[in-house]
Amino acid sequence: MFKKLKNKNKTENNLDNDLDLHNIPEHVAIIMDGNGRWAKKRKMPRIKGHYEGMQTIKKITREASNIGIKYLTLYAFSTENWSRPESEVNYIMNLPVNFLKTFLPELIEKNVKVETIGFNNGLPKSTIEAIDYAKDKTKHNTGLTLVFAINYGGRAEIIQSMKEIYEELQTNNQSANAIDEELFNKHLMTHNYPDPELLIRTSGEQRISNFLIWQASYSEFIFNEKLWPDFDENELKECIKIYQSRQRRFGGLSEE
Ligand code: FPP
Repeated sequence: MFKKLKNKNKTENNLDNDLDLHNIPEHVAIIMDGNGRWAKKRKMPRIKGHYEGMQTIKKITREASNIGIKYLTLYAFSTENWSRPESEVNYIMNLPVNFLKTFLPELIEKNVKVETIGFNNGLPKSTIEAIDYAKDKTKHNTGLTLVFAINYGGRAEIIQSMKEIYEELQTNNQSANAIDEELFNKHLMTHNYPDPELLIRTSGEQRISNFLIWQASYSEFIFNEKLWPDFDENELKECIKIYQSRQRRFGGLSEE
């Protein structure tokens, strides 16, 4: 059904010939794993791995925007990551500040919209302010939506959604029969985005780790061996090629 673009776009977009530009997943979600191991391998402190991980975010955001991904959701900090040493947590919490200080002009220039999912409680004021500023500056942008999952956890998100629905039903004097997938989705932090077609986890680990557990029900999973700081544009394109080679059936039967 989809025609492969051979050679045609090589000069236009600097894309690999085999990438089918008509079948780019609309929403790609990534569990950025392996920063600590990357640093350890180099006998560096773990935070150096997170710093390099932040540089990878820049590369991947540029590439995602170039190839026409509409939503890129990155798992930056989970509700479980608070159990790490305080110095590491503090360092990670400051990375959005650093990232936006150095990269916001390019995000604006590339028409990228910055958004977040997750809970604000516990985040340093400086982190919230930097993110709010970036959200405001990019809110009218119409290109890639870059979503950072910060202090995010799928279970906590679902519990919050259930509480909101319960309140809503009580207020409207409705029974539990009013609950359906549409209502449930409406209360998730991701309500403005389609479900991710593709979920990538780097570093070879094969777990979902409480990331988009409802939304990823039909996602294609790709477990990439690279540690996140080593992940790059070519690896992203390789993941998309693998995605394009798979058949998505959503529980039905293949048409072929
Ligand atoms: C997982 O690697 C990575 C994290 C928990 C933090 C990821 C955060 C960033 C890449 C930067 C966030 C920046 C912005 C702009 C929001 P790990 O530490 O678990 O690695 P390991 O499994 O090798 O120890």
